[in-house]
Formats: sequence, structure tokens, C-alpha cells
Amino acid sequence: MKWTPSSWRNFPIKQQPTYQNKELLKAVEAELSTYPPIIFAGEARNLKNDLAKAGRGEAFIVQGGDCAESFSAFNADDIKSLFKLILQMSVVLTYSSGKPVIKIGRIAGQFAKPRSSDFEEIDGLKLPSYRGDIINSMEFTREAREPNPKNMLKAYNQSAATLNLFRAFSRGGLADLNKVHRWNLDFIKDNPLGQRYDELSDKIDSSMKFMAACGLTSDTVPQLHQTTIYTSHEALLLNYEEALTREDTETGDWYDCAAHMLWIGDRTRGIDEAHIEYFRGIKNPIGCKVGPSMGEDELIELIDALNPDNEEGRLNLIVRMGADKIQDYFPKLLKRVKDENRNVVWSCDPMHGNVEKSSTGFKTRDFDNILSEVEQFIFIHKGMGTVAGGIHLEMTGNDVTECTGSKSSAITAEGLSSRYHTQCDPRLNANQALELSFMLSDAITQTEK
Ligand code: PEP
Ligand code: CO
Repeated sequence: MKWTPSSWRNFPIKQQPTYQNKELLKAVEAELSTYPPIIFAGEARNLKNDLAKAGRGEAFIVQGGDCAESFSAFNADDIKSLFKLILQMSVVLTYSSGKPVIKIGRIAGQFAKPRSSDFEEIDGLKLPSYRGDIINSMEFTREAREPNPKNMLKAYNQSAATLNLFRAFSRGGLADLNKVHRWNLDFIKDNPLGQRYDELSDKIDSSMKFMAACGLTSDTVPQLHQTTIYTSHEALLLNYEEALTREDTETGDWYDCAAHMLWIGDRTRGIDEAHIEYFRGIKNPIGCKVGPSMGEDELIELIDALNPDNEEGRLNLIVRMGADKIQDYFPKLLKRVKDENRNVVWSCDPMHGNVEKSSTGFKTRDFDNILSEVEQFIFIHKGMGTVAGGIHLEMTGNDVTECTGSKSSAITAEGLSSRYHTQCDPRLNANQALELSFMLSDAITQTEK
């Protein structure tokens, strides 16, 4: 059947809001479709080439950011902290693996959330669930929970402004390798992790001095001075994605110009459903979450629907089983894909299979489970002779208390209430994310022995 940016509308769809004002919805979609693209097709093609390298084991992906961005916590400091954290993690991993890190933010468009229930009930009042700021608001009032099409315009503007700052940081000097010490975030500096990072920075400084003496400086080698950070989000709200889907004048192909990479959530990956229909027609590199309910035949069918030409770098399978399940569920999927010679890039989301409720009532994740899932992922690949391509994390550059555990933060169930700021799922704070990077780099080094 012929694909168009709107052909998904002929398929069953899950996890969507019910907009009451259809006229307003139409008007917003029409307006958005006249707005400039947020990214351009050539950038998405570059990312696809980069992901192909990760699939071959020549690079490693670090993808991370908020579970859900919010309109209220939109400010330059938070964006800068996440940017610095991604750079720090990249330095740690590049140094140990000797491979470039492909940096992808869960940012500049990560607004729409799938929910386990369509409604939320408190004290007898039943209202639509919060589905992310692009759809409705978190406050538990009838008005706030009503899906508002105009939120899409606000999400577009926030995404464009966020990416603008990311681009400025990437090119404007903040990413200069001569400044690795300065990427250390204030609250990390004084703990052992900060010191480990500083030691690494000292080694990089020595290398930079050596290279400068050989005539290789930021002025002569742009790679030392600037970087590329791509954007990504779950393309859940297809009304928004369709409005930003544009035909590339150079190739005649269609791209979702809302982000460089888009992914399909674990709850909306039904083979005969709207999200698969939409994703099969866009040429961006795409991701698909793979949870414990994924069958082997189902996975091959999905791969063939999304990547019929078996292209490298097109499809990133983001495995999110849970630390206690990955060993039972993942190796058989991996083996099947390997035996059938499908080109995919495997990465590990150690967040979404490890959600638990703390004894103090908070939705949380424990650092040990997160680390364990990442390590198991690395070792399963090692055993199978396949490539662990990257990690996908919910994290923030701020010092929040949302996930328990870790040596650097040591957050207890009682400590969660102190700075629990997430809009949706609990994120690793900067200490925890950096600690995870060091542990991951140790695991990678171990597998390469
Ligand atoms: C997410 O990445 O925020 C998410 C909802 O993940 P999943 O689809 O894997 O549950
Ligand atoms: Co989440």
C-alpha cells in the first residue's frame, strides 16, 4: 500500500489523546505544517552513517535526557548541564574504548508519553491521564487534563529553541577538548567520581599539549573544538510528527524533521498499527524499543517492515528487559537476528524494565539494577560475538534524587523526597550517570581483554 505522511490515519492506533475541539486540532496541524523544519535531512543522513558505525562496533552511542521535557522546567542552565554531562560521559567512554561516541539527546521534542492507564482516579474524581506537555498538563484538574492542540505549537517552539542552544554549545567553544576540566559539574567536583574524572581530564590535557606541540590545535583541527549532538524523541503523537514530515528536495525522500532520530515505544509497536505505518515511510534513522513481550518471529517481521533493504544504521533496537529478565529474554532474540543476518544496531535501555515503588511511595529505579542490566547486555553480546552499540538513559545534568543507590550519590528510599523533580519517570542524576559511564567503560575494557 502506498505510504504518505498521513497514511497512518488508516490504521488502528494506541496511546493517543482524544481532542474535543477537532477544528482547532486541524488548524494547529495546518499551521505547524507551514513552520520551518527543526532539523534538515542531511543531518539525519549523517546520523544514519554514524549509527552504521556503531552497528559495526566502530563507535558507541550515548543517548540520554529527560523521560519527559516540560514547559515549566525550560531554561538554559538545565540544557547546558545536560550538554556537559553528555560530553563528560563521552570522554570517559571514548578514552576507555578508543572509539568515538555518537551523542544523542532525548531532548528538543521529547514531550509525549505513553501511559499504563487512560484515566487517573483520585478521591472519586476520574480524569484523563497526563500524557506529556505536548498534550495536556500534569495538574489534577479537569481543565489541565483536557488535551489542548495548541500545546503542539509550544512544544515546537521549545524544541527549536533548545536545539538552537545545543547547536551553539556544540560549535561555540564549550565542547573544546581543551576544556574537559570545565565540563565537570559543580556538585560532582568534590566527590571521588569528580576526582576520577579530573584524573582522566589531566591525561587528555597532556595529550592535547603533545598534539599542540606537533601543530594540531583547535584552530587547525575542528574536531578538537566542536562536536555534534543529535536530537531524538519518541514519535508518539503522530499528528505532530506528520505536520513536520517534509520531502527532501535533494533526494525526494520523506523525513520527519522534528528530530534527527525518532523511536517507537514498546507499547505502540504493533505490526499492523499506525506507528509502524508512519515509521516505515520516513528515512530518518529510527529506533524501536524491545521489551520482554517481544517474540522472535515478531521481531523479524518488525525488522523487515521497518528496514526492508537491510540497511546499516537505519534501525536501532533499544532493549529494555529489566535486570532480572534480560538473561531469559534477550539472548534468543539476539541469536535469531544474528542467524538471519539482519543489520540492526543494538542498544540498552536499562531504565524502563527496572521501575519499582520505593518503601516511601516514590516511583524509582535502583542504580544496582540499572548497572546490572547494562553489564549483562555487554556480556551477552560478548558471548554471542555480536556488537553492543550503545546505551539509552533517562538522566539529567542536575542533582536530583529520583533513582536510589550508587556510590557517588547513595540515595536512600527516605532521601528520594528531597529533590524529586521528574515530570514522569525517575532519572539518573549527573553523579549516577557519570558513575554508570565509568562502570560501563570498565565492563567494555574487560570484554576487550
Ligand atoms: C520511554 O522511553 O520513555 C518509554 C516510555 O519507554 P518504553 O516505550 O520502552 O516503555
Ligand atoms: Co520513561
